[in-house]
Amino acid sequence: MTKRSSGRVAVGIALAACTALPAAAQSGQPVPAFKAPVISDTGSLPGPRQPIFFRHDVHAGQDRVPCMYCHYSAAISSEPGIPALQTCFGCHLMIGGSTPSHEAEIQKVRDAWSNSKPPEWVRIHTLPGFVHFPHLRHIKALGSGSCGTCHGDVARMPQVYQAAPLTMGWCTNCHMQKQVTRDCLVCHY
Ligand code: HEC
Ligand code: HEC
Ligand code: HEC
Ligand code: HEC
Ligand code: HEC
Repeated sequence: MTKRSSGRVAVGIALAACTALPAAAQSGQPVPAFKAPVISDTGSLPGPRQPIFFRHDVHAGQDRVPCMYCHYSAAISSEPGIPALQTCFGCHLMIGGSTPSHEAEIQKVRDAWSNSKPPEWVRIHTLPGFVHFPHLRHIKALGSGSCGTCHGDVARMPQVYQAAPLTMGWCTNCHMQKQVTRDCLVCHY
């Protein structure tokens, strides 16, 4: 697994509006209210441990921040990208933690910001270099709500893990069902 910096996506939603959020959340499908659980044993969670215990079940689940608020480049580039620290700080300048453990993790976000040291998130999904996977094409064809088809129910994951096998058979299976090309050269150059 490779390390990476969350600073690599230059486009910043920056200090854009936590205030825009309720509207954004309303525009999504009506999801029943969900309360992210308190987790005392983080060691037993599936998925790699990240430098900050950033919880998708809190952000995307409980607080219903849309996936695209953070992974906005999914709709415009071949890679969805990980949000820059600016995106986090747009909210966490104001929003602190409601529990001591949340507060301690949010303090790491503030420290990272003031030291200009973005967290090196551990990459979870990776295809070998000889495979071509255009994210944008898939999201266009399958819809912006289709993330779960390939990533599982991320909005319920305290820590992200790889839910699908990402093997060649997995890819071609769906291509067969959707009558999409299985020409070797579309996936392999
Ligand atoms: C508040 C910002 C934010 C929101 C909202 C958000 N994410 Fe993320 N996402 C991140 C960050 C930061 C990481 C890197 C750290 C990690 O893996 O938890 C990440 C990682 C991921 C990864 C793993 C990437 C890899 O390394 O392979 C997937 C998949 C993902 N998010 C999907 C989603 C989906 C689907 C949604 C909506 C249900 C969503 N995210 C909502 C910030 C966000
Ligand atoms: C749209 C606003 C928003 C954005 C953007 C946002 N957060 Fe949060 N974050 C929240 C809210 C609301 C909470 C819940 C606070 C609580 O109740 O403790 C929270 C909680 C947290 C917590 C403690 C709970 C948890 O998730 O473990 C951490 C750590 C955190 N955020 C990190 C981040 C990071 C890192 C980013 C950027 C990738 C980010 N946040 C982006 C609103 C936001
Ligand atoms: C058809 C399957 C599929 C769908 C649908 C899909 N993804 Fe992915 N996603 C993948 C694969 C495969 C990878 C690994 C790509 C690679 O390594 O080149 C990936 C990688 C990622 C990454 C890590 C890549 C990076 O740039 O760091 C994130 C974040 C992510 N997806 C988020 C999303 C979000 C958000 C959605 C919905 C808007 C989504 N994905 C929809 C299959 C999918
Ligand atoms: C859940 C279904 C699904 C899965 C899983 C899936 N794909 Fe696709 N894929 C599609 C659809 C639908 C399209 C057609 C998009 C379009 O018409 O633009 C597509 C198109 C493509 C294209 C563009 C084909 C062209 O005509 O240029 C490539 C390349 C591709 N997929 C690679 C992959 C790879 C690699 C994987 C596995 C890592 C994968 N796909 C997994 C549904 C899927
Ligand atoms: C829809 C996308 C897709 C198509 C079409 C596709 N492949 Fe693949 N292929 C993959 C992915 C993803 C991997 C890497 C994951 C794996 O090894 O299962 C892969 C891996 C491979 C490997 C390496 C296997 C190994 O064990 O390392 C070979 C060889 C290969 N493909 C040949 C082909 C040939 C020949 C065709 C045409 C008959 C083809 N592929 C069509 C997606 C595709």
